[in-house]
Amino acid sequence: MFGKKPQLSTDAYKGVRDFYPEDMAIQRYIFDVWSMTAESFGYERYDASVLEPSELYRSKSSEEIVNEQTYTFIDRGEREVTLRPEMTPTVARMVAGKRRELTFPLRWYSIPNLFRYERPQRGRLREHWQLNCDIFGADDYTADVEIIALANQMLLNTGAESDTFEIRLNDRSFLNEVFASQGLSEEQSAAMLALLDRKEKINNFDEEAAKIAGKPFILPTEVPRGSTLARVIAGLRELNITNVTFSPSTVRGFTYYTGTVFEFFDTSSENNRSLLGGGRYDNLTSHFGGDAISGVGFGMGDVTMRDFLKTHDLLTSDITAPELMVIPTDGVHALEAQKVALAFRVAGVSTAVDMSEKKLGKKISLAADTFVSYVLILGDDEVKNKTYALKNLETKEETSGTLEDLVANLSE
Ligand code: HAM
Repeated sequence: MFGKKPQLSTDAYKGVRDFYPEDMAIQRYIFDVWSMTAESFGYERYDASVLEPSELYRSKSSEEIVNEQTYTFIDRGEREVTLRPEMTPTVARMVAGKRRELTFPLRWYSIPNLFRYERPQRGRLREHWQLNCDIFGADDYTADVEIIALANQMLLNTGAESDTFEIRLNDRSFLNEVFASQGLSEEQSAAMLALLDRKEKINNFDEEAAKIAGKPFILPTEVPRGSTLARVIAGLRELNITNVTFSPSTVRGFTYYTGTVFEFFDTSSENNRSLLGGGRYDNLTSHFGGDAISGVGFGMGDVTMRDFLKTHDLLTSDITAPELMVIPTDGVHALEAQKVALAFRVAGVSTAVDMSEKKLGKKISLAADTFVSYVLILGDDEVKNKTYALKNLETKEETSGTLEDLVANLSE
């Protein structure tokens, strides 16, 4: 009875992450690449609440997500509320809500956190952040080309080579034609779509497909001539994007896609998974009344992005460190170090002051290990003579001069 109080666990809730500074630095880097790239294509940022009325997801998303993967609760006013599992229904709601005031086509992006009650595993968590880029009100196939080119640029802008990922492309309307030409009913088509979605995970596709169709089912292997699919692939080639393959089994889980669908896959065997996915959905806004406004877009997660960057060694460059570390040799110069640092910061050079109690050699090597580019050592002589030496940790080059000289040198 008078025993110790039970200790609280320091673990985060299952399937979500804490962001300690080094994790936060990587996440911020990813978000920066995402927003800079989206804005370089002229996309405008929007956002919304994580809370949505549950009815938003009924009939619009995939069955699996709605029935098994949402965090849903009843609020104190007896309303059924869901933590958003994806952003597409939200953005469709927002676009439909202001359709009269908005000028189409729209190019919008956001970086929401999403919640899915999944079994946590590599690349899949219960909370993730997802870049969403969408174009509304553009029906031409070049909108599909642009959205895929944008997703492609997201990866290139991290320094990735184009052979480190593969773009798998398909078209829902083409699949529907295939189903119809082989005499499949609506029900059989829906079952075939769900089976195709699992094709890579099973080894008896043909058998299962024949069960659904009631006869052997033939999955086309060639891109049909003159189709939207062929034009999208040709269009991407024109933009020098050639790592594209027709993938008849790429269908995407959501029921709202109506045309082009695509996924980007990491080609490394260590991280062979989908990095992003998207497609064209022409009827989603019609759930809110009025004429449908077409949409095409994609979602790209921070968990898979981080795994991709790690796998391809793209996180080694300076994404967290200040450019300069001012290192006082002795505690008596600590305040002087702050003054020197301030002069660099004012000139736009990110600068930190070393406050560790380690030996000088150790301080310098620590700075180098954490990707600081320059160090400035502050000892008795430097403080007295007001001349300092700036050392480039990569080239080992040293430059001496007054504070003004060195600030001018680094801020150039
Ligand atoms: P999605 O395929 O469900 O599509 O998700 C897109 C990406 O988000 C995935 O490729 C993956 O990178 C990441 N992702 C999804 N679920 C998780 C999870 N549990 N843990 C970590 N990462 C995850 C959509 O959500 C569509 N609404 C995308 C879209 C936007 N389509 C058109 N516009």
